[in-house]
Amino acid sequence: MSTPVTKLPVEKQPSIRVLAMPADTNAAGDIFGGWLMSQVDIAGSIVAYRYAAGRVVTVAVNNFVFIKPVFVGDLVSIFAELTQVGNTSMTIDINAYSERKRGEAECHLVAQAKLTYVAIDKDRKPRPISKNR
Ligand SMILES: CC(C)(COP(=O)(O)OP(=O)(O)OC[C@H]1O[C@@H](n2cnc3c(N)ncnc32)[C@H](O)[C@@H]1OP(=O)(O)O)[C@@H](O)C(=O)NCCC(=O)NCCS
Repeated sequence: MSTPVTKLPVEKQPSIRVLAMPADTNAAGDIFGGWLMSQVDIAGSIVAYRYAAGRVVTVAVNNFVFIKPVFVGDLVSIFAELTQVGNTSMTIDINAYSERKRGEAECHLVAQAKLTYVAIDKDRKPRPISKNR
């Protein structure tokens, strides 16, 4: 799948923005997919935590697609949008962008995913979201 060079959605605020570092590479020297998955999970959890006004856990990672590679030195911006709210669960849609050669405005959509989080109480049991907001 090839996605053309794109522009960051500057009208939106990213959930996180992070620089891909040499320590995050795989054996071939590119950024490890697991690192990006971790960043995506963190980005989604921030939105879910805010909405649920308290602790959440990831219950499912769906439709995770790696569209383009991430390289050392890329600035990765992850946008997370709440798209569905259940009784205790929240679904978050993620778009991750990589800015290469910063300053030259080369930007790629590198991953998309859909994650589900569950609000939990102090006993780690699901808690209704609306009663806690
Ligand atoms: C998340 C957890 C608390 C849910 O507990 P549970 O007893 O299975 O809860 P329920 O069956 O009542 O489901 C709770 C909600 O999650 C949703 N859910 C459960 N499994 C799901 C799945 N595979 N995909 C999407 N949603 C799911 C349910 O639909 C429900 O949503 P709703 O209340 O909005 O209708 C429990 O499974 C858990 O602790 N999992 C481990 C979480 C964790 O450690 N995450 C980090 C991994 S490193």
